[in-house]
Amino acid sequence: MTMRKAVYPGTFDPFTRGHLDVVVQAATLFDELVVSVLHNPNKRPWFDVATRMDLIRDAVSSIENVRVDSFEGLLVDYYRRESFACVVRGVRNELDFQAELAMAHVNRSLAEDLRVVFIPTSSVYGFVSSSLVKDVAMHGGDVSQFVTPRVAKALLEHMSR
Ligand code: PNS
Repeated sequence: MTMRKAVYPGTFDPFTRGHLDVVVQAATLFDELVVSVLHNPNKRPWFDVATRMDLIRDAVSSIENVRVDSFEGLLVDYYRRESFACVVRGVRNELDFQAELAMAHVNRSLAEDLRVVFIPTSSVYGFVSSSLVKDVAMHGGDVSQFVTPRVAKALLEHMSR
């Protein structure tokens, strides 16, 4: 029997309840789901990769078949190296869908055997993004409805630095 191992790649700076909603849905579709943080210093993230991974681990700790990892470089190279069966991406709206479709086409041009599954986020989180969460936090707003308590704490700590 083959293990269906999928990867949910992203920047996750930081992980939101919208991301968590995608993880919860995707975890029921595959034997193993690997949430993987892209190491991309060009993006000037608020949180380093190790912190982002810790925050994700905390958020997904109750879901048995979810693991947290990180990667550098092209997604297709990581996909092949780790023998993933599928890439999972969350889609909030039409704009996301356009961008995700372009990314899927590029990835499939680079690796024909790559498979992609789009998961619609729950409408409750249809407007939540890491950048908006950071913006709310930066201006002193309450982010608790958008992120887990650990992430809210990490955002506060970042602000007080
Ligand atoms: O959370 P994000 O920023 O929307 O995630 C984007 C991500 C990390 C999935 C995408 O940028 C990616 O896979 N980057 C790795 C480099 C790569 O493979 N680029 C070509 C894909 S179009």
